[in-house]
Amino acid sequence: MTMNLTRVPGLLYGGDWNPEQWSEEVWAEDVKLMAEAGVNLVTVGVFSWARLQPAAHSWDFGWLDRLLDLVHAHGIAVDLATATASPPAWLVRAHPELLPVTADGVRLEFGSRQHYCPSSTAYRAAAVRLTRALATRYRHHPALVLWHVHNEYGDHVQECFCPASAADFRRWLRERHGTVEELNRSWGTAFWSQRYNSFDQVEPPRTAPGPVNPTQLLDWRRFCSDALLALHRAEKAALDEISPGVPVTTNFMSMFKALDYWEWSRHEDFVSDDAYPDPADPRAHVNAAMNYDLMRSLKAGRPWLLMEQAPSAVSWRPVNVPKPPGLYRLWSLQALARGADGVLHFQWRASVAGAEKFHSAMLPHRGTAGRGWRETVALGAELRRLGEVAGSRMRGRAAVLLDWDSWWALELDDHPSARMRWLDLLRPWYAALYERGVTVDFLPPGGELTRYPLALAPNLYLLDTADADRLDAYVRGGGHLVCGPFSGVTDRHDHIHPGGQPGPLRELLGVVVDEPWPIPDGESTALDLDGVGLSALRWSEWIETSDAEASDTETNGAETIAHYTSGPLANRPAVTRRRHGDGTAWYLSCHLDAADTGRVLDLPLAEAGVGAELPGLPAGVEATRRRAADGTEYLFLLNHGSVERYVALDRPGTDLLTGTAATGLTLAPLGAAVLRIPPTEERA
Ligand code: GAL
Repeated sequence: MTMNLTRVPGLLYGGDWNPEQWSEEVWAEDVKLMAEAGVNLVTVGVFSWARLQPAAHSWDFGWLDRLLDLVHAHGIAVDLATATASPPAWLVRAHPELLPVTADGVRLEFGSRQHYCPSSTAYRAAAVRLTRALATRYRHHPALVLWHVHNEYGDHVQECFCPASAADFRRWLRERHGTVEELNRSWGTAFWSQRYNSFDQVEPPRTAPGPVNPTQLLDWRRFCSDALLALHRAEKAALDEISPGVPVTTNFMSMFKALDYWEWSRHEDFVSDDAYPDPADPRAHVNAAMNYDLMRSLKAGRPWLLMEQAPSAVSWRPVNVPKPPGLYRLWSLQALARGADGVLHFQWRASVAGAEKFHSAMLPHRGTAGRGWRETVALGAELRRLGEVAGSRMRGRAAVLLDWDSWWALELDDHPSARMRWLDLLRPWYAALYERGVTVDFLPPGGELTRYPLALAPNLYLLDTADADRLDAYVRGGGHLVCGPFSGVTDRHDHIHPGGQPGPLRELLGVVVDEPWPIPDGESTALDLDGVGLSALRWSEWIETSDAEASDTETNGAETIAHYTSGPLANRPAVTRRRHGDGTAWYLSCHLDAADTGRVLDLPLAEAGVGAELPGLPAGVEATRRRAADGTEYLFLLNHGSVERYVALDRPGTDLLTGTAATGLTLAPLGAAVLRIPPTEERA
């Protein structure tokens, strides 16, 4: 039995529809065209607050009543937004204090969107009131299948430095630290005479003369994620109370630094994401794959929803390149290939006014005569053919560890190098795996790793001893772990672990860092990996392997797998491996590009027996597999390249897009296939 995200059968197809921008005659045309395109779900009301509640005590639901009835009459379901992402002018003028304030003390004006302080009680009360009003009115409407809370929390405004935020921050700190002595200890306020006598003396990290206390900044990041989450939870609680049984989601923004999506996703009925890969970037699909893998992983592999993508160009980049023919289809299928159960868009009909009037839409300005419309209709038809894929699941073959605390702490100021940025460290690892056809799931460092033979940690700058112990147990239980540089550096207060990096992983990895050795921009340090020359960029480390005899384990010490061959680190170890029974713990002490990272990762991949999803895949072709509960497999093949490719299948299947049975097939440039492969006997 597969479970659909909503009670709409098959895959979801549609987008944000902003009917308040149009007359009711246009709505009538819209629903007809939606039916023609195979749209089965529209997101309504994302920015409708001013229309729904024109003044503090006046409500106008009549238009939304008519709209929902109209949509329902055309067999289209509704993802109803709570409309709280853009507070109306009357509310802002009545409560000017709800506008957010920057670290420099500038209060941001009305006139855009997302203009609210996350800790404002006036904003929260008004948002919850609107949510309750919508939930009460529409909970039984037959078109309603999903609630869409707010829109992209953290987009535009992620933090506010006003007095209300300061008070909320102090409350949060009291809860976290209990006493001011504990806060002083955790923040290391003995340094630079930063001691506090009471919580009342604490302020948010506003612009200060020099570097601000790093633990204060780290706690601030944690607080800001929690403050927005509190808003989300308040709306979600109202919906759950008034409209039980209807799923609730809010649209995430892929791998987004400001919000700890591990924590956030616990409060979602399912994960939904907005993704805008840049058609001008020839590697955009690799990043997209990475983001989709995260979205799937946030709920341990459960299907997720692509809530927004652009049918063609966006309007917010300096140069907004459209999607050439075929790319929109290919990238839509890519989201499905990585576990999405639907493809929705921003937006249904292109706006004629406002900041996004040059953004592409399913129905472009040119109307049904345009190429965009033909592609919209064609994709809708294809998604119908793929309906049976809904509910099936994709699982990665290896785990990649990701931790927001560590991300935030890594990117604080005054580190050995400002070039150590999480996404820059992660991308070459992900790209190397992607090129090899190795699929991955993301996990938090304390996650359940045992089903993965290989776990990769491109960086774990901040690492709690409890999480380190779990990694230790994983390797001692036969797992293979690869750790990237500048890991195990600090504890959860961002205090340096005693005894040298990688702190609580020293024993497991069998190495200690004597000193980090950042590499200046434009320079590199040479390495030798069994006769192959590699180049370290940005970062290297003077490491020493631990003496086997001094070790309290029965295992050998760490072996040197690659060593530096140039500069002050010449002849010193660069990549090491330590065996623990059947498990291995690898340390990579420098940053490498994707090609060189891959050369190193080939060794642990081989040792862990982790290979490609479909062996022998030609360059440029992506292959992923989703499995239904009955063992049926859906093999997605996506040709991101500009040349035709032949793919031999490991088992015969039927391409759902063409209905053709195949043991192998040729993919045109930007071509795709989705093969249904029946369960093997022993699986069935
Ligand atoms: C998203 C947002 C939409 C629209 C879109 C344009 O970030 O949720 O409302 O602005 O971007 O690409």
